[in-house]
Amino acid sequence: MNIKLATGESIPAAAGENILSALKKSGIYLVASCGGKGTCGKCRIKIHSGEYRTSASGKLSQADKKKGIVLACQTFPENDISVEILEEARLVVGDRIALAKSKDLSELFRSFDKEITPIVKRLNIKLPPPTIEDHISDLERLNRELEMKGIKGMRFSRTFISSMADDLRKHNWEIHLAYVDGHEAIFVTSDKQTSRYGIAVDVGTTTIVVYLIDLSDGKLVDVGSTYNSQIRYGDDVITRILHATEGNGLEELRETVTDDINSITDTIIEKHGINKEHIECAVISGNTAMSHIFWGLDPEHIREEPYIPTVNSFPLWKAGTARLHINKQAPVYTLPCVASYVGGDIVSGLLASKMHRNHEIALFMDIGTNGEIAIGNNEWLMTAACSAGPCFEGSGIKHGMRATEGAIEAVKIAADTFEPSVSVIGNTTPTGICGSGMIDAISEMFLSGVIDQKGKFVREIKTDYLREGDEGMEFVVYKGAKDIVLTEVDIENIMRAKAAIYAGISSLIKEIGFSLDNIERVYIAGGFGNYLNIDRAVIIGMLPDIPKEKFRFLGNTSVAGAYLCLLSEKLREEAEDIARKMTYMELSVSRNFMDEYMSALFLPHTDMALFPTVEKLMK
Ligand code: FES
Repeated sequence: MNIKLATGESIPAAAGENILSALKKSGIYLVASCGGKGTCGKCRIKIHSGEYRTSASGKLSQADKKKGIVLACQTFPENDISVEILEEARLVVGDRIALAKSKDLSELFRSFDKEITPIVKRLNIKLPPPTIEDHISDLERLNRELEMKGIKGMRFSRTFISSMADDLRKHNWEIHLAYVDGHEAIFVTSDKQTSRYGIAVDVGTTTIVVYLIDLSDGKLVDVGSTYNSQIRYGDDVITRILHATEGNGLEELRETVTDDINSITDTIIEKHGINKEHIECAVISGNTAMSHIFWGLDPEHIREEPYIPTVNSFPLWKAGTARLHINKQAPVYTLPCVASYVGGDIVSGLLASKMHRNHEIALFMDIGTNGEIAIGNNEWLMTAACSAGPCFEGSGIKHGMRATEGAIEAVKIAADTFEPSVSVIGNTTPTGICGSGMIDAISEMFLSGVIDQKGKFVREIKTDYLREGDEGMEFVVYKGAKDIVLTEVDIENIMRAKAAIYAGISSLIKEIGFSLDNIERVYIAGGFGNYLNIDRAVIIGMLPDIPKEKFRFLGNTSVAGAYLCLLSEKLREEAEDIARKMTYMELSVSRNFMDEYMSALFLPHTDMALFPTVEKLMK
C-alpha cells in the first residue's frame, strides 16, 4: 500500500508498518523526540483520506482528533492513505547552523602553549637511490636511514608498505615521513608538500560541529555544523541507546554520525580547495554514549545500573577504520570519558576553561540535552551528571522546540494586564518556545503572580491569557493563528529539569563539604549557555544565587577542547590527566541528591535564604 503526501509524493508502506517508520525509510524525517514510543506527541500528521488504525493518544487533544490529526508512530495504514505532515512535525536535519568564526581560537591556544605539536610528526629524509651495488629492499633502505638518524623500532603497516615503493620513487627519494608517537609510520609525502590540516569535531547529542584547522599555524580555516541526524531516532541519549541496543540500530547510528561529519568536512574542503589527503589527523569530543556510538561500541551498559562504559580512554585509531573522509591513515584521537554520563565533551570543557590549572575553586556546568557539573581546581576535581532531561531542547513541552528560527526566546509579562510580549529568533511568527524562552516565561509568570511557588496556576487571577485547554490549564504566551502556550504539565517538566540541575550543584558542593560561598567562579558551557539569562535562571532557582560577576559564558567548550588537543601533545596529556583526576559521583543513587531535588521543586526553592536577591524581588 502507499502513503500519498500533500506534496504529491507517494511512498510505500509495508503491512503492519507505522507511518513514522515508512516515512523514515523513504528519507522523510519527523520530529520524533521519544523515538516512536507515542509519548512525546511530536510526530503529528493529518490524515486526509484512507483507512487506518491508530492507538488513542493522550498527547492529542479532542480538537486535534476531530481534525484527523494522529501520531505517525502510532498509526498504521490499512490501505492507500493520503497524509499531510504538519509544519511543527517536520524535521530538517540537514540544515547548516550558522556559527561565528572564532577569532579567539589562536589566542586561546597561545594562552596554553607556545609550540604546535600535532599528533602526526614529520621527518625529512633524503634516501640514496638504489643501485646494482646498493640493492637492499626499499623498507631496509628506509630503516637504514632512520637508524642513522637515531630512530629505531619504527613500525610499518601493510597499507604503508603497499604504497611505499611508488611513493619513494614518485618523490625522487626525498620525502617527509609522517609518523605518530610510538613510532608508527603513517604515510610518505613529498618534502615540498607543506600544507597540513586537522579536524576538531564536537559530536553533540543535538549538533555536530567541525573545525578545519591549519596545523602549521593553528588557524581556523573554516567551521561547519549541522544537527546530529541521529535526532531522527530520538532526542536524548537514552532513546539513542535504546535504538542502538533494542532496535538493533547501532550500525545505523554510527553511519549517521560519520555521514554528518563527512558531509561537513567535504563541504569545507571543497570550498577551500583542500586535498583531503592533507587532512592528517582528527580529534573527536563527545559524551560517553556519542563516543561509543562513533566507535561502533554497544552502549547498552551505559544505561543500566551500575552504568559502566565499555571504554573511558580510547586508543588512537585510523580515519579509514573510523570511516572519516580524510587521509585514511590519519590518526583519530578521541577525548577520554570519565563515566557513563560524564564524557569527553566535559573533559574538553574543563581543559578549555583552564580550571584544572588554576587555584581558584570553580564550578563548571554544561547545560545541553543533559546537565553535567564539575567542581574543583588544580588539585582536585569532582563531577556528576544530573538527568535534567531534554525539555530545554523542546522535548516533553507542548510547544517546545530548539533554539532555531521561529522559537520564542524571551518573554515579558505586563504586571497589570498579564499580557505577554515575546521576542522570536529570526523575528518571525513564532512556531514554538525554546529553553531560554521557557526560563523567561516561568520567571515572569512567577513574578507577576500567574503561577505560585509550586509552579501551579493561580486560578483567581483575571486574564484571558490563562485558560482551560485540552490538557488542563494553560497560559497563552503568544496569541496568533497558532497560539503558543505553556501548560501546567509543561511547567512541571521545566521545574523538574531546573530542580535536577540545582540539586546536582548543591549535592556536589555538599559532598565535598563546601558551601556556595566557596565557589569563586562559575563557567557555563554548551550551546544553551550562550542564550541563558543568568538573572532569570536564578529567579526560577536553576542557578545558585551568587554574584553575577562570578559567571562566565564559554560557549561550545567541547569543540574548543578538541581544537586544543589537535594542536598540542602537552594538552592531550592534560586532557588524559583531567579524566583520571576527576572523581565521579553517581547522583541517581544518592539520598542527598533526592532530598536536594525535592527542596528545589519550588520557585525558586523551599529555602528562600538561599535566594536572597529573588526574595527581595518578590517583596
Ligand atoms: S509520539 Fe511519535 S515519536 Fe514521539
